Amino acid sequence: MKGIILSGGRGTRLYPLTVSLSKQILPIFDKPMIYYPLSVLMLANIREYLIISSPEHIDLYRGLFGDGKRLGLTIEYAIQPEPKGIAQAFTIGENFVQNQSCALILGDNLFYGQGVSEKLENAGALTEGGLVFAYYVKDPERYGVVEFDKQHKALSIEEKPKKPKSHFAVTGLYFYDHEVVSIAKSLKPSARSELEITDVNNAYLQKGKLNVEILGRGTAWLDTGTHESLLQAGNFVQTIEDRQGLKIGCVEEIAYRKNYITTEQLLEIANFSKENPYCQYLRGLVEEERITPSPLKAVEQAPDEEPLSLEAINEIVHEVRKQRR
Ligand code: DAU
Repeated sequence: MKGIILSGGRGTRLYPLTVSLSKQILPIFDKPMIYYPLSVLMLANIREYLIISSPEHIDLYRGLFGDGKRLGLTIEYAIQPEPKGIAQAFTIGENFVQNQSCALILGDNLFYGQGVSEKLENAGALTEGGLVFAYYVKDPERYGVVEFDKQHKALSIEEKPKKPKSHFAVTGLYFYDHEVVSIAKSLKPSARSELEITDVNNAYLQKGKLNVEILGRGTAWLDTGTHESLLQAGNFVQTIEDRQGLKIGCVEEIAYRKNYITTEQLLEIANFSKENPYCQYLRGLVEEERITPSPLKAVEQAPDEEPLSLEAINEIVHEVRKQRR
């Protein structure tokens, strides 16, 4: 499966932050926003990426990730001349997708929660049809909205309906089989002159090939589109990271844990600075591995039905630290 990260758009609601910067490169606490969606697709075991952004911003991403080798990935880049719709990612990315399954994530989407990694691993193995995620929100009229029947089977998806048929919004994370490019190419622009991702989803739905999975209330799907929500997302990440001593959306950590990069490569990244706490965290991962074989695997692989409490996670981390002393 391949992965596209769409990081264009004008970010007008974030003016003046976005006058000379791309929205998806703005900081969410200790890392650029795009780290979070990249980490999501890495957790789905995707290693080949296309990052799409506007002509004036694409080089910011090239500067950040290069060819991706540093993270054991391959990363290519493409330009979206104008923000003409999310589904345009697949017409721009046609040569990249090359008739394979492909995931798409919006560069400003942040997911966090128990069981998300497992859901992503399953999604990354998709070979037929489409898979999207629905999330309960208080303001569904701002999103693509799913109508469900009593068995939670999706009946329809409407883009920004005035009278939403449910509170379930489609999130900005999509998994499709090889047909997605031809579906995207067949779309007509909507009333707002965009190639709508909702039309792609409805095409799969009409063929009976769209799976809509609900993300439960224990999952956080955060918005970063306004000054307030940007700050709230940063505070959220800081609160969890500070409490657990574990990072959210740390692409270097995921690359290391998935053996995409060696210990030496991780330490080379960490050598960027001795004092920087992010680099210290990366070095700490290696030290922990030397003492006990991945205590954090226990945290990640805890069964869904018995989520580890914060206290339990902290006990594990505390234990590891004690051993280190
Ligand atoms: O956030 C999820 C929602 O995203 C879905 O529920 C909707 O079905 C889907 O249409 C989309 O809603 P919006 O149309 O309101 O998304 P927005 O225009 O805010 O764009 C989302 C992100 O994608 C934003 O960071 C900018 C980027 N983008 C958007 C468009 C239209 C691009 O890079 N290029 C584009 O052409």
